[in-house]
Amino acid sequence: MNRRNFLQLSGTTAMAIAIAPSLITQKLYAEDGSLFKPYEKVQLKDADGKPLKTSALVEEENYIFHYPHAATPALLVNLKTPASKDIKLKAEDGTEYIYRGGVGSKGTIVAYSAICAHQMTRPTKAMSMFQYVPTSGKTIACDKSGVIVCSAHLAVYDAANGGKVISGPATQGLPAIVLEVDKDDTLWAVAVLGPDKFEDYFDAFKQELKAEHGRRGAKKLVKEEAKVETLKNFTAEIIQA
Ligand code: FES
Repeated sequence: MNRRNFLQLSGTTAMAIAIAPSLITQKLYAEDGSLFKPYEKVQLKDADGKPLKTSALVEEENYIFHYPHAATPALLVNLKTPASKDIKLKAEDGTEYIYRGGVGSKGTIVAYSAICAHQMTRPTKAMSMFQYVPTSGKTIACDKSGVIVCSAHLAVYDAANGGKVISGPATQGLPAIVLEVDKDDTLWAVAVLGPDKFEDYFDAFKQELKAEHGRRGAKKLVKEEAKVETLKNFTAEIIQA
């Protein structure tokens, strides 16, 4: 191959890469701030191991999957109404980032890290004090529903507005799990957007995570697929204030 042909081929390859949808999304997010972290592109699967389609998600049900690490839970919700678009958010250190909105045909599907930004309460198999309260539900944590509540100390996060803090002790919002929907309606997790506390979490729960996931298992990056299940199936007890 001569140099001219090589350059043409390189240009074609570059163009092919440039139009890959996931890369375009990642580029757009990345340009908006420094709090975008791409991880493995992981396909979300249902409890039977089949690719999860957005059409199968029950409205306002709490779903749990683990991403980007084997031991970092995430909350997936198909909201009643579309999530807001292009929400400007700020981490506690002042870093700004922009939440682009939900996915799915109506923009109602959102996912957030399920590790509370206050003191890292999160759903475990034994118990969950962290969940989305549907619009028909009630919480003593605030006077509105359709929000994410951590009942440990009543932090309330706005599920439709990038996970920002509504009330309570948290000083920054929940990081969003960036989702993509393929043309066959299947759902993928591709990145984390916002200030995560993963390293603090691994330190704080070291012994517990080691017992559950083995010596290095908790930090392992999830690859290829992640199982999604309802919170009520995942955990033995749900406690909601
Ligand atoms: S740990 Fe969630 S509110 Fe304190």
